[in-house]
Amino acid sequence: AKYEFIITSKPDPTVTLITLNRPKALNALSSPLFHELNHALAQAELDKDVGAVVLTGSEKAFAAGADIKEMKDKEFAEVYGNNFLSHWTQITDMKKPVIAAVSGYALGGGCELAMMCDIILASPTAKFGQPEINLGVIPGAGGTQRLTRAIGKSRAMELVLTGRNINAQEAEKWGLVSRVVGEGEGEVVKEAVEMAKTIASKGRLSVMAAKEGVNAASELSLHEGLHFERRLFQSLFATKDQKEGMSAFAEKRKAEFTNQ
Ligand code: HXC
Repeated sequence: AKYEFIITSKPDPTVTLITLNRPKALNALSSPLFHELNHALAQAELDKDVGAVVLTGSEKAFAAGADIKEMKDKEFAEVYGNNFLSHWTQITDMKKPVIAAVSGYALGGGCELAMMCDIILASPTAKFGQPEINLGVIPGAGGTQRLTRAIGKSRAMELVLTGRNINAQEAEKWGLVSRVVGEGEGEVVKEAVEMAKTIASKGRLSVMAAKEGVNAASELSLHEGLHFERRLFQSLFATKDQKEGMSAFAEKRKAEFTNQ
């Protein structure tokens, strides 16, 4: 597909790489950009060869937030009436894992978009923050919810109330990102693609179930979550991949998963 605000590629037959590409606006997340992103995600979800997706921006900005210029004149009746930003949630419905490779600014909606992904890898240049308070509003796509679950109440309050950015090291220390990768342009994307290839080499059904299980941890009580996990675990005994994975181990050979 031809896109105006994103670039899609397949650095490996099993990985879709989506690059936000609105450099003049630091990848501000306008509605047209989001519609393209949703389309590309749907394509990746449908692509039988693809096992994981990497989402990235530029060296300067993963995304500097929702498009402030697009939002500034909107009225309540319009944003409420049209359920403004409801089209931002599609990425969270992905069954395939999505890895965010973040360089530069991930602010406001940019930080929220990264948090909607399953794993965040950060380059040393990454800066995360929820500066909406400076615009007379508050985060609207997870900044008060996912951020609080990720880093805890006191830290989330600090970021949301002051609008201060944190750097990659702080984000790692606070558990917002899984890791900060080495220096160098493109390093974080390379690392994310390698991780995506690793995930794509596993059985698709077990990857999907694992993602469902981890995501359930932020929705369910421990008791319900453990119950759900055990049922997911048991259900995988209906798959060929479970037979193959365990037989391969017993036979001291590499498993050949068929995603069945
Ligand atoms: C629209 C944006 C933008 C944004 C940057 N630009 N961020 N346009 N929406 N969120 C545009 C600038 O207007 C400018 O356009 C160009 O990108 C380059 O930005 P500069 O500010 O000149 O760059 P720099 O001086 O390097 O500063 C970088 C920055 C700053 C610190 C990231 O751009 C900034 O503070 N941006 C806004 C960050 C923010 O408040 N994000 C939260 C948005 S609200 P021109 O035409 O002048 O060259 C939000 C709400 C989410 O996300 C709610 C639910 C989704």
